Amino acid sequence: MSVPILILGAGRMGGALIEGWTRVGAFAPSDLILRDPNPGLGALGAEAAGARLNPPDAVLREAATVLLAVKPQIWRQAAEAVVPLLQPGAVVVSIAAGVPTAQLSEAFFGRPVARVMPTTAVALAKGVASIFATEEVAAHRAHALFDPVATSVDLDDEGLMDAATGVSGSAPAYLYAFIEALEAAAEAQGIAPEAASQMVRATLIGAAALLDHTGEEPAELRRQVTSPGGTTEAALKVLMGEGGLWPLLDRAVSAAVTRAKELGS
Ligand SMILES: NC(=O)c1ccc[n+]([C@@H]2O[C@H](COP(=O)([O-])OP(=O)(O)OC[C@H]3O[C@@H](n4cnc5c(N)ncnc54)[C@H](OP(=O)(O)O)[C@@H]3O)[C@@H](O)[C@H]2O)c1
Repeated sequence: MSVPILILGAGRMGGALIEGWTRVGAFAPSDLILRDPNPGLGALGAEAAGARLNPPDAVLREAATVLLAVKPQIWRQAAEAVVPLLQPGAVVVSIAAGVPTAQLSEAFFGRPVARVMPTTAVALAKGVASIFATEEVAAHRAHALFDPVATSVDLDDEGLMDAATGVSGSAPAYLYAFIEALEAAAEAQGIAPEAASQMVRATLIGAAALLDHTGEEPAELRRQVTSPGGTTEAALKVLMGEGGLWPLLDRAVSAAVTRAKELGS
């Protein structure tokens, strides 16, 4: 039994999860106990639908699962405030970037712990969840929470959580930055800002939908729209040439992974 789920920190990511679960009917709001000193709209909406928001301490003992969803900088303080109130059999699932399972397990007095690196698209049940756990019960619990709203990927080495942060957790921002840059390039070619944003956004959403729908490899889809000697090929010579997208993304991901390691140390 995964429920009730105690959510420590119902901010952007906690709120996104609640939204996704509600969308697909994975967990009823009445299965959720929320603890957040500054609840956002998602938490308040869940409370209106039956979740218990900042209830008396005794209620926390009911929680079968604890989802740690506060900022990494304050995870220890958030954990210490609740650990004496939890039942011994509670299982912990943490999404705090960079915080190792050994430290989490110690702070939660040896309870089973899973780490997850999610993306905010869990709100639309289209997220990605990279999961690491040393105990099977914790891995199962993480899957129970995330499978309804994400493509879950198991990692067999905790060291890879930092890599998952660099290529998945942080990656929606890379794509948004790409869209901003392409819109700016469209404007530089004289297209009005509104038309540029419509054109670029619809093109990217359509391309992602084709990738999803056809199941083709991205390289194959790229070949299909690249005629020899044509316009796309001219652009790709720049994008995929020396100093182009490949070395640039390699450097960007390395910077994210380095930062994830620094935050976790
Ligand atoms: N957002 C993402 O895309 C993303 C992706 C992957 C992983 N994550 C991870 O998700 C976690 C949360 O990130 P976020 O972006 O959702 O942060 P956030 O929006 O700041 O949400 C955290 C919430 O926790 C509240 N809080 C502060 N102290 C607390 C305490 N002692 N007990 C309970 N709640 C407390 C915060 O309130 P205040 O506003 O008053 O501080 C805030 O509402 C982070 O550890 C991050 O590494 C986020």
